[in-house]
Amino acid sequence: MTNYKKFHRFSNHIFMIGFGSIGQGVLPLILRHFDVSPEQISIITADNRGQKEAEEYNVSFEVNPLTPENFRQVLGSHLKQGDFVVNVSVDVSSTTLIELCQEKGALYIDTVVEPWAGAYTDPHLSVSDRTNYVLREEALALVPKYKNGSTAVVCHGANPGMVNHFVKVALLNMAKDTGLQVAQPKTREDWCKLAQKLGVKTIHIAERDTQRSDKPKEVDEFVNTWSIDGFYSEGNQPSELGWGTHEKEMPKSSGAHAVGSKAAIYLNRPGSNTRVRSWTPLEGPYHGFLITHNESISIADFLTLRGKNGEVIYRPTCHYAYHPCDNALLSLHEMNGKNGKLQNRQRLLRADEIVDGIDELGVLLMGNPKGVYWYGSRLSIDQARALVPHNNATSLQVTVAVLSGMLWAIENPKAGIVEPEQMDHERVMELAVPYLGDMVGVWGDWNPLRDRNGLFPEELDTEDPWQFKNILVA
Ligand SMILES: NC(=O)c1ccc[n+]([C@@H]2O[C@H](COP(=O)([O-])OP(=O)(O)OC[C@H]3O[C@@H](n4cnc5c(N)ncnc54)[C@H](O)[C@@H]3O)[C@@H](O)[C@H]2O)c1
Repeated sequence: MTNYKKFHRFSNHIFMIGFGSIGQGVLPLILRHFDVSPEQISIITADNRGQKEAEEYNVSFEVNPLTPENFRQVLGSHLKQGDFVVNVSVDVSSTTLIELCQEKGALYIDTVVEPWAGAYTDPHLSVSDRTNYVLREEALALVPKYKNGSTAVVCHGANPGMVNHFVKVALLNMAKDTGLQVAQPKTREDWCKLAQKLGVKTIHIAERDTQRSDKPKEVDEFVNTWSIDGFYSEGNQPSELGWGTHEKEMPKSSGAHAVGSKAAIYLNRPGSNTRVRSWTPLEGPYHGFLITHNESISIADFLTLRGKNGEVIYRPTCHYAYHPCDNALLSLHEMNGKNGKLQNRQRLLRADEIVDGIDELGVLLMGNPKGVYWYGSRLSIDQARALVPHNNATSLQVTVAVLSGMLWAIENPKAGIVEPEQMDHERVMELAVPYLGDMVGVWGDWNPLRDRNGLFPEELDTEDPWQFKNILVA
């Protein structure tokens, strides 16, 4: 039997909110790497998914969906100082739980800034108010209020989460490979200057998931390798991207925000119907979906270099380019044909149903004269299965981020509310990498103007391949 390293003894209580694909995948990791007994863990969730697993691990399992009306009683009345809330649910407001944890002196982690049910598709909200930009600003507004409060790690899954750390590793690798002499960046400004010196104009979270089942998608069925509710919600939010200083023109039908960091813009169309050109080393060129994600905004914001008067001098464009598993792609196509109406049946591909495939998830940094640089994790279903039970490749990239974020929070218990950018990326990587399969950095000569065959007129900027208009699939 393998002797796994127990990183920390945890003597308080862990409350897991939600127990879907991520919750089920993270529980074995918590029990493996924390010195904690099953009686110290409680699951509060909205349905009976995962109940058998909870029983297998002797962990308490309660179906009692949190709502704005009951969260104080259902969770708050049990939560004590030093406890840990692991929010891996959908439809539960992150900011509400963060404030509750601050009030009680409890640690907190989530993988997205989630609103209460219904906000993503509320027709009474403006397009701008349905963005992740607004959700992120709501979380950031709490930061000064809880400075030095108990640590709340916000958005620490795979993406957002690990990929935010990958950007830092990629920048350092690029500097090394191109012979750029730089000291280890210490401040946010150091990171901005490094990205600027390397000529980084655009960053994609470039992901290709090739996992597949031998059971094809049926008509009126949504199939995916992680939360169908989560993917459906974010796919129906407006497309969003961190907006770089090299961009010459705003996309047609887009909007900017009047308040906040102003690091990102949104498109007046859903991400599930917005495609972009991107590249990963194994897949090569592909069309991915520009689904809104918190990291598109936080990475762009983090890498914004300002002048003395606060004027923006440098910022890269940053966004997701997601090629989900082939069955999910067909599911999106079917869903879009019905104007965004979710299929009646949903199937989450679990590890035992997937026959082969990998999740190739990384960051693609573009603009350096040497070429594009992709850095990330290649995790196959076979590797994931062998590493941790109850995980496929996609979930493991997320669940190990939750584990490493929890460990980091315990090591830094009074950091207040932090995004991944404020964490020590080396420590997080050290904890997570053993579970991420092959970590690779690859240079490529791809650009979005490559092999455009000229058979049809296109509005292109041939002088600068890294203009968003060249990347967007019109
Ligand atoms: N950052 C990342 O890389 C990343 C990746 C995957 C998923 N996620 C996010 O993690 C979260 C969980 O994903 P998943 O794949 O496990 O989703 P899932 O759909 O498989 O499970 C969601 C869980 O939330 C529970 N839930 C729903 N409403 C609830 C309520 N009111 N109170 C308590 N529990 C409730 C459900 O019962 C279910 O157990 C989602 O928000 C998703 O977007 C982030």
